[in-house]
Amino acid sequence: MKMGNSSFVAIALLMSVVVLCNGGKTSSYVRNLLQKPVDMPLDSDAFAIPPGYNAPQQVHITQGDHVGQAMIISWVTVDEPGSNEVIYWSNSSLQNFTAEGEVFTYTYYNYTSGFIHHTNITNLEFNTTYFYVVGIGNTTRQFWFTTPPEVGIDVPYTFGIIGDLGQTFDSNTTLTHYQNSNGSTLLYVGDLSYADDYPYHDNVRWDTWGRFTERSAAYQPWIWTAGNHEIDFDLQISGINLSTICQTSFLGTSTLQYKWLTAELPKIDRTETSWLIVLMHAPWYNSYYSHYMEGEPMRVVFESLFIKYKVDVVFAGHVHAYERSERVSNDKYNITNGICTPVKDISAPVYITNGDGGNQEGLSINMTQPQPSYSAYREASFGHGTLEIKNRTHAHYSWNRNQDGYAVEADKLWLFNRYWNPLDDSTTHIP
Ligand SMILES: *[C@@H]1O[C@H](CO)[C@@H](O)[C@H](O)[C@H]1NC(C)=O
Ligand SMILES: *[C@@H]1O[C@H](CO)[C@@H](O)[C@H](O)[C@H]1NC(C)=O
Ligand SMILES: *[C@@H]1O[C@H](CO)[C@@H](O)[C@H](O)[C@H]1NC(C)=O
Ligand SMILES: *[C@@H]1O[C@H](CO)[C@@H](O)[C@H](O)[C@H]1NC(C)=O
Ligand SMILES: *[C@@H]1O[C@H](CO)[C@@H](O)[C@H](O)[C@H]1NC(C)=O
Ligand SMILES: *[C@@H]1O[C@H](CO)[C@@H](O)[C@H](O)[C@H]1NC(C)=O
Ligand SMILES: *[C@@H]1O[C@H](CO)[C@@H](O)[C@H](O)[C@H]1NC(C)=O
Ligand SMILES: *[C@@H]1O[C@H](CO)[C@@H](O)[C@H](O)[C@H]1NC(C)=O
Ligand SMILES: *[C@@H]1O[C@H](CO)[C@@H](O)[C@H](O)[C@H]1NC(C)=O
Ligand SMILES: *[C@@H]1O[C@H](CO)[C@@H](O)[C@H](O)[C@H]1NC(C)=O
Ligand SMILES: *[C@@H]1O[C@H](CO)[C@@H](O)[C@H](O)[C@H]1NC(C)=O
Ligand SMILES: *[C@@H]1O[C@H](CO)[C@@H](O)[C@H](O)[C@H]1NC(C)=O
Ligand SMILES: [Fe+2]
Repeated sequence: MKMGNSSFVAIALLMSVVVLCNGGKTSSYVRNLLQKPVDMPLDSDAFAIPPGYNAPQQVHITQGDHVGQAMIISWVTVDEPGSNEVIYWSNSSLQNFTAEGEVFTYTYYNYTSGFIHHTNITNLEFNTTYFYVVGIGNTTRQFWFTTPPEVGIDVPYTFGIIGDLGQTFDSNTTLTHYQNSNGSTLLYVGDLSYADDYPYHDNVRWDTWGRFTERSAAYQPWIWTAGNHEIDFDLQISGINLSTICQTSFLGTSTLQYKWLTAELPKIDRTETSWLIVLMHAPWYNSYYSHYMEGEPMRVVFESLFIKYKVDVVFAGHVHAYERSERVSNDKYNITNGICTPVKDISAPVYITNGDGGNQEGLSINMTQPQPSYSAYREASFGHGTLEIKNRTHAHYSWNRNQDGYAVEADKLWLFNRYWNPLDDSTTHIP
């Protein structure tokens, strides 16, 4: 998948990691851990239902093609199906365009969804602001978004990274912090609403989540990865069409996924798309007790591909905390040979866990001790990540802890591109 000058493939599987000794930094920042995050009540302002007959709600957009000239507009109506039409125009044009989409509903136990609409709007200009209107014929609502710049090797672009968000007061803080960042597209690393934590997986909590995230997701594309909290659902039922980014089943050894990835990776032309970013749900390099080693089955199969194809950075969620690895690999290990020590490897990606959105299950605070050498920085706090691609050689990554000011970077580093600038960008000394 290509966007701006970056490129990413998404995999949604379960995975994780391995042991070592004396690594990087364990933050001394201590968050107030006494209170578990609680979900915002159903009547919270964050879930407000837009007024008016059949008013579109849960409006969200995602990229409709690989380069950014199409956008899928999705929304839910509750009184009647209404229209699938989107009217849109660019800031500078005098002409309106229309596109038609499709509508469907689903049931889950005793829940019946609203009317879920998806409309792909096409032939968009690059780097252009568009306004769009949904709810034609009933109550209309207007939003806007800006398309990414045309793919180019040195084109700057800023991504946000959020995972395991849920819908607590902390989730709300994380989203507000993200909205105050300069992210133009959000990379979502799985586990969305946590509706399945409710009795009968109360799908009303998918609708509240859709209304909660609308204030960002209606204005910029969110690129989705599925997590384990999406597993027991049909992937479509949240009203989010995940199919563009996650076309694979996500449990098990999944030959399908392997075939897909081995077919996709060679297609990426790094002289055109300079950065290669992978999104997945469960991390491979994780030094928390939570989900420790869970990514091993996947890492063993896929890690050498990431190195071969010079993946720059891998973002994951799942573990409800923050962690960043050094560039390490452990691809000699095959379970029977006993070679099970991650080693410094400047051909390898940096692995970042951003499972810290703020869901009601709470933070993962138990860390393995001592901090393994693959782990450069770890902290049990909520927050979000920002990846600012500057040009073909440099990208700046930062992590914003949601307890601080909007622009405070609790962890940060310059990432050097593995294809164009494969120098050592370690932040701690590792053997
Ligand atoms: C949206 O439209 C674009 C342009 O026609 C097309 O390439 C893309 O496949 C469509 N996306 C989906 C998900 O249908
Ligand atoms: C639309 O364009 C006008 C100038 O033509 C500019 O002032 C305004 O900020 C633009 N709006 C957006 C949302 O880009
Ligand atoms: C385009 O559609 C919007 C919203 O329906 C409307 O306000 C505007 O007048 C239309 N512009 C043109 C040029 O038809
Ligand atoms: C669904 O079933 C549960 C459990 O019986 C009940 O608490 C809830 O009110 C029902 N919801 C609807 C919409 O009927
Ligand atoms: C709502 O919009 C649809 C689609 O345009 C239209 O067919 C329907 O008559 C409208 N409903 C009302 C009550 O106006
Ligand atoms: C995108 O457009 C803005 C003006 O709206 C311009 O300043 C910027 O350089 C453009 N970016 C690219 C990559 O073309
Ligand atoms: C959620 O955050 C928004 C934006 O900061 C704020 O307006 C709203 O009051 C918050 N809602 C709750 C329930 O915290
Ligand atoms: C966003 O970018 C502006 C302009 O470069 C900068 O002043 C501001 O601090 C940035 N915001 C954050 C949260 O980094
Ligand atoms: C969205 O999901 C539906 C239902 O699975 C599917 O038929 C449709 O092709 C998807 N649309 C897009 C735009 O991906
Ligand atoms: C594991 O790796 C060793 C070499 O390090 C090799 O001899 C052995 O066949 C491999 N086993 C499996 C199951 O791939
Ligand atoms: C952390 O680990 C310790 C020792 O295994 C255990 O007693 C404790 O319950 C764990 N705490 C949490 C919050 O999981
Ligand atoms: C790439 O970006 C980095 C960081 O902003 C900058 O130091 C470097 O000079 C840039 N490279 C080129 C060729 O402009
Ligand atoms: Fe998870």
